[in-house]
Amino acid sequence: MVFPGFWVVFEGADGVGKTTQVDLLAAYLRSAAGGAREVIVTREPGGTPLGVELRQAIMHGDHVAPRAEALLYAADRAHHIATKVRPALAQGAVVLQDRYLDSSVVYQGGARGLGDEVERISMWATEDLLPDLTVVLDMEPDPARMSRDLDRVERETIAKAAQMREGFLARAALAPERYAVVDAARPREAVHVDVLDAVLRIVAAKAAREADAAAGPAHEAPRIEPWGTP
Ligand code: TYD
Repeated sequence: MVFPGFWVVFEGADGVGKTTQVDLLAAYLRSAAGGAREVIVTREPGGTPLGVELRQAIMHGDHVAPRAEALLYAADRAHHIATKVRPALAQGAVVLQDRYLDSSVVYQGGARGLGDEVERISMWATEDLLPDLTVVLDMEPDPARMSRDLDRVERETIAKAAQMREGFLARAALAPERYAVVDAARPREAVHVDVLDAVLRIVAAKAAREADAAAGPAHEAPRIEPWGTP
């Protein structure tokens, strides 16, 4: 199968199966591409060596002031996008990413009450880079499903699970052309089929746009010379 490079992010509350779905999609795409296209799996926080240190600072320290926490996630994101994701996309790779700025908007902006500025900070941090597709894995909050080995951030956020679910759904509703909401309360193979369906639709649209651009405009617009410019 021939497909262009693209970037898919997985979002959703803790315990919805993002990592499993990233891995299933990566396995599918690697086999479909037959080595012709690199498939990179990455995550936030912690997708780079610096990010691993920032992740440890966020997760396992004592109390972190909410604004400091938001800036640590943004710092991880800025470095991750600049040093890993942008270069990979520029080389035509496929990037599959566990969490991105919607997590900051929902967790820091919503649950921690920091509001809209959190999104602006992330957009500044990444120079406005947005994925081709964000898959929101959606599930009724159920703490029993979540791992028992919870870190500080997870313990604090479980209490607000329902609010966060609404937050992710609201993000998806704002830009339906760039999001797919997938019911994650099903066997992982069924979820994977829906994820793949959404990805293939976005990829086909991107391939068509790239083919159009390569073919050039059907009719050259007349060249208009600027008048009166020095
Ligand atoms: P997560 O992907 O759940 O890692 P793990 O699977 O190892 O638990 O992310 C870790 C936590 O970080 C998760 O509770 C969500 C939180 N988080 C934010 O609060 N803001 C962010 O911007 C990101 C990327 C994650």
